[in-house]
Amino acid sequence: MELPYHEDVSPGTGGLPPRVWCAGSDAVSLSLNGSWRFRLSPGACGPDESFAAAGFDAAAWDEVVVPGHWVLQGHGSPLYTNQMYPFPVDPPRVPTENPTGDHLRGFDLPADWPAGGDAVLRFDGVESCARVWLNGTPLGDFKGSRLPHEFAVGHLLRPEGNVLAVRVHQWSSGSYLEDQDQWWLPGIFRDVTLLHRPEGAARDFFTHASYDHEDGTGTLRVDSEVPGRVTVPELGVDVATGESVTVPVEPWSAERPRLYDAELATAGERIALRVGFRTVALTDGLITVNGRPLLFRGVNRHEFHPEKGRALDLATMRADVRLMKQHNINAVRTSHYPPHPAFLDLCDELGLWVIDECDLETHGFTMLGWRGNPADDDRWTPALLDRATRTVQRDKNHPSVIVWSLGNECGTGKGLRAMAAWIRERDPDRLLHYEGDPSCRDTDMYSRMYADHAEVERIGRGEDEGSETRRQLPFILCEYGHAMGNGPGGLREYQDLFERYERLQGGFVWEWIDHGLRHPAYGFAYGGDFGEELHDGNFVADGLCFPDRTPSPGLLDYKRVIQPVRFGYDPVSGTVSVTNLYAFADLSELAFEWTYLMDGAERDASGPLDVPPELGPGESVELKLPDPPAAASGAETRLYLTAMVCEETNWTSLDHVVARADFAVTPRPPVPVATGESPRRRGYDVALGPGRFDVRTGELRALDTLTLTAAPRLDVWRATTDNDDGAPWQPDTRYGPLWRKLGLDRMHHRLDDVELGASGADALTVRTRMAPAARDLALRTVYRWTSDGTDLRLAVSVTPEGDWEVPLPRLGVRIGLPAALGYAQWFGGGPGEGYPDTKSASTVSRWSMPVDRMQTPYVRPQENGARADVRWAELRTGIDGEGVRIVGDPAFWFTARRWSSEQLDAAAHRTDLTPGDTVWVHLDHGQRGIGSQSCGPGVLPQHELRVAPAEFTFTFSAAARRR
Ligand code: GAL
Repeated sequence: MELPYHEDVSPGTGGLPPRVWCAGSDAVSLSLNGSWRFRLSPGACGPDESFAAAGFDAAAWDEVVVPGHWVLQGHGSPLYTNQMYPFPVDPPRVPTENPTGDHLRGFDLPADWPAGGDAVLRFDGVESCARVWLNGTPLGDFKGSRLPHEFAVGHLLRPEGNVLAVRVHQWSSGSYLEDQDQWWLPGIFRDVTLLHRPEGAARDFFTHASYDHEDGTGTLRVDSEVPGRVTVPELGVDVATGESVTVPVEPWSAERPRLYDAELATAGERIALRVGFRTVALTDGLITVNGRPLLFRGVNRHEFHPEKGRALDLATMRADVRLMKQHNINAVRTSHYPPHPAFLDLCDELGLWVIDECDLETHGFTMLGWRGNPADDDRWTPALLDRATRTVQRDKNHPSVIVWSLGNECGTGKGLRAMAAWIRERDPDRLLHYEGDPSCRDTDMYSRMYADHAEVERIGRGEDEGSETRRQLPFILCEYGHAMGNGPGGLREYQDLFERYERLQGGFVWEWIDHGLRHPAYGFAYGGDFGEELHDGNFVADGLCFPDRTPSPGLLDYKRVIQPVRFGYDPVSGTVSVTNLYAFADLSELAFEWTYLMDGAERDASGPLDVPPELGPGESVELKLPDPPAAASGAETRLYLTAMVCEETNWTSLDHVVARADFAVTPRPPVPVATGESPRRRGYDVALGPGRFDVRTGELRALDTLTLTAAPRLDVWRATTDNDDGAPWQPDTRYGPLWRKLGLDRMHHRLDDVELGASGADALTVRTRMAPAARDLALRTVYRWTSDGTDLRLAVSVTPEGDWEVPLPRLGVRIGLPAALGYAQWFGGGPGEGYPDTKSASTVSRWSMPVDRMQTPYVRPQENGARADVRWAELRTGIDGEGVRIVGDPAFWFTARRWSSEQLDAAAHRTDLTPGDTVWVHLDHGQRGIGSQSCGPGVLPQHELRVAPAEFTFTFSAAARRR
């Protein structure tokens, strides 16, 4: 049976050979973006191509915006799967139910459209297969969704009344090669452009611009299919294409992205180029650029916009690059397809190292034991090669692109080998990446995803197994730190390893942005929200940015972990150390400042820190600070160090902080112990200082005039995070499910005893036992209340019983305050959340904000918002209003929210959460770390919250209105 074009394995017919993409031509072009006529059919339509014929009347059709996805414009709906193909696996066949969008666009040529020459019609991205007609004449068809496709159309153009017809199938044989973990989003989602091609216009050309770090010269050679001249005015270069020229230059790097304006002039066309000189190599087993080893502080970036899907505008692309730069990210892997070409222009201009990945993933075959994998089937090799060719041909002139990646999760096979061979032949000056083949036959680096710290350390030490070839290779984590929901945890410990072992050249956090789609009922939708038959839920929301590009706490943590300056402080000698962690740049673009603050509030003293601007990569300096001002009694002095940009740049504004750190100058003073008053009983009430208790339950009811909505009591539950829950394929130590099985989400509290001032003590003592049903595990808890008449002190002592085989989610007390106390202030970690293994960005200082702003809006609601290392916290009716003050000894984790953990746990979307009559406050002695088990390793041992005896205190007092 002959298969129709959308099902056969061929990459397409009728198109032009792939060539370079460039924005800077002086030839005329016409954008065909905008409103197109549109009709959706439930199937592939077979032979009915009448809509493409001249004179077809589409007046009754709908309209869609191109670039765009029809499923995001009211026609059908998106669907999300990770590995699973959402259709029966029978390659290359696809289902009969194959949503097909017919698109029509009429256009006239602009008045300045030149008479002679030819014209090319270019599609920068269509998912997943298109057939194209111009003025009724079929041009051909193509697959390869995130790749450019061009047709010669000059002979068909008319000055007026042209009609372009495009039939787009959601499913095609190409879908088998595009099983990336993301929404399936059909449509013409990138630009459509008509390009005039003058007589003598350039076709393909390849800019080779290398840098010799030993003598400081750059060598430029532009190979061009159509000969011409190349000029670089700033360098006095004027040579023929194909000719090499060597001149002294400043090199390009992601840290100092020096570009030279150049021009390629052929007989018929002038093309503005931007040349960056750099040499990529594998030197002594390391990835080097311009002779220096790199350390990738990277992210994986899918193209995503919450309303537009993968149809990104330039402003969004620029926002991505700026945000990455602002968060100290220096590298991006274009997972798992070449991005919109303009994104790479931005990477050249603003400076990012790029692993440019081919549009290829066949992950769904893993469920079949890789049976029938197209990556290992000769019939598919032309399609694979076509994809490799289109990627390299399009992007080869970008200095930012230093590594080609064959694709993602395709197993192993002949097709991949053929791609690698072709790429090496075409571009020997870049390195090759592929993670999916453990033999590393075709790659220049040993790349892994989600390897745990211990294994990464073994690899760093060269103690890994595997072939000798692989053991000689540098190592990267092409994916790590799975940023799904709250987290990822453990980034700091990875970074320590990367900085310790030369062979470990860094990694790429998975991933840049949550793919939550804007939804009227859910806020942001994820898998399953569109009634999909098969889906992978909120696994699609696993980014360092929320869908609207607000940085999540994970991104802020990562920013601090990878900051390019390391600070140290020795309080004894009063010296600060500053280390330059850049690979290329000195510190001349940064300005440094020190500040002493007392109790995080009063600016005691500050000044510039005279770090030598010429401090080179890897170098350190020690600087003596002026003595700190004498601390007032009972106060705590800390030192804050910052590195800011000295000048506004193309990626940030002047007030931008690149690196910061804070250190204790004086230790925290001891917290006075409130004792002396004795509890007084009147009926069922007990009064102790400002506290009013119920003698029957031992519960605190009121503090001064403030009536509590829930008395303080021990709490261990947290709304499990995606990382607590873990991925289904993870091993059995996934604590979220184990905790639920054990009943930690529904603990029983038994009151054993309420004791008033017994045996001369001035305390109210309440003894309880907290335990899950059906188990003999428990936490025996003694609450011991004392007061000095003004303050009320609670000392909690916890003694575990039984054989606890799981760590706890949290350990602390929770308390319900009236909803009016909606404004928080605290001295401790902030401004944002932090957990034991995610708190690098948490600065110990004084912070204040409404409780509503303390919430982190994870797409799927889960535990969030804890502030680390808190000395004291206040909840008031407003910034100056009355309320309650809580001092912790030792410092504690502070969380406040308008819903309970149980409500948070039950919510599927943010819109399920509505404020009640209580501000729930958690005062935690311990929190479990976060880890990365939603796809990677769990919590490191040092960040687990093991069950053990614990003692901690909180002192409560009424906070008066501030005048
Ligand atoms: C990797 C894959 C990514 C993504 C990630 C989990 O295996 O390469 O595309 O699925 O896991 O979010």
